[in-house]
Amino acid sequence: MTTLPLPPSLIATLPGHYYTDPALFRTEQERIFERTWFCAVRSADLDKPGAFRTVQVGRENVLITRSRTGGLRAFLNVCRHRGARLCTETQGQVRRTLQCPYHAWTYDLDGKLIAAPNLTKMPDVDRATYGLVTVALREWLGYAWVCLADEPPSFEDTVIGAAVERLGEVAAIDHYGTERLALGKRLTYDVRANWKLIVENFMECYHCATIHPELTDVLPEFADGYAAQYYVGHGAEFGDGVKGFTVDGSEGFGRLPEISDDQDRRYYALTVKPTVFVNLVPDHVILHRMFPLAEDRTVVECDWLYAPDVIASGADVSKSVELFHRVNAQDFAACERTQPAMSSRAYRSGGVLVPTEHHIGIFHSWLLQQLGADGA
Ligand code: FES
Ligand code: FE
Repeated sequence: MTTLPLPPSLIATLPGHYYTDPALFRTEQERIFERTWFCAVRSADLDKPGAFRTVQVGRENVLITRSRTGGLRAFLNVCRHRGARLCTETQGQVRRTLQCPYHAWTYDLDGKLIAAPNLTKMPDVDRATYGLVTVALREWLGYAWVCLADEPPSFEDTVIGAAVERLGEVAAIDHYGTERLALGKRLTYDVRANWKLIVENFMECYHCATIHPELTDVLPEFADGYAAQYYVGHGAEFGDGVKGFTVDGSEGFGRLPEISDDQDRRYYALTVKPTVFVNLVPDHVILHRMFPLAEDRTVVECDWLYAPDVIASGADVSKSVELFHRVNAQDFAACERTQPAMSSRAYRSGGVLVPTEHHIGIFHSWLLQQLGADGA
């Protein structure tokens, strides 16, 4: 493992090499993405038995299928015969079975080995033993979360509990009924930056006044540089003349049915470590999933979710999509501008966390703890 010098104090960011070192990224894959719960796919994307998706989780490729009985299953995407990647597509639909393209070993949708050429002549190959290797899976907010750890940490504590704690009682995430919402738009961003730059950017709003003119028009308090998610449970209030969370402040849609009066006309944001951001506004939910692929490359998939009747009616969601699409484009451009400088000698000992960014220091402490680099 690479030597991991500690940042000198809470007002300093991580040193530059944390964002550029391939060996350190491999350590993060092993100790973070392969050990914590990772938000992999939207459950409704696998809409019928035989639908599958593959996603990169740390160093592993994970195959998620909908079984014949309707539940979701997750497996390592590796054939047990000679290790070929079983599904080479990122998504698809099979009828009943998954067949390896190399020597045609065939598995059912629950991962059981059910057929192989000449299997009856191979008494040593036990079908039960050579099924696909299963991966732990939980569903929450309408997404399938997977964990590669042999003994996954408590989902309730490390995912749900952490998210609810950040939002407080007032903004109970359940009120948004995210798992019942329909997909209005999905955009994928291929960001040439380390995943931690994206997390850190999302956690602060010191940059909002400089790079987010449309967002600060809708949420004027963001122009002061205070991150709404830092002030837990408070939410950021829409500006006086603002009718909805849209690119021009024009009317959105009716508020989601269980939203409380306290939650109306407010924007909440939370980070579910390590790779998920959720934004909650009265008429829709925006959920970002990050897929860290290299020390300097992160794919971000962003879903805009609305009440099912809004989507069924064919309503035009483009004004609300455009607002956060611009925010995303502005944020990711900032991260990409920062990434090359991480290897500059000017950033050898890192940068500075100003007072409104001190919660990023808490993220760094968490990261160092996961990496075993906190001296503990
Ligand atoms: Fe899959 Fe041989 S490697 S059938
Ligand atoms: Fe931003």
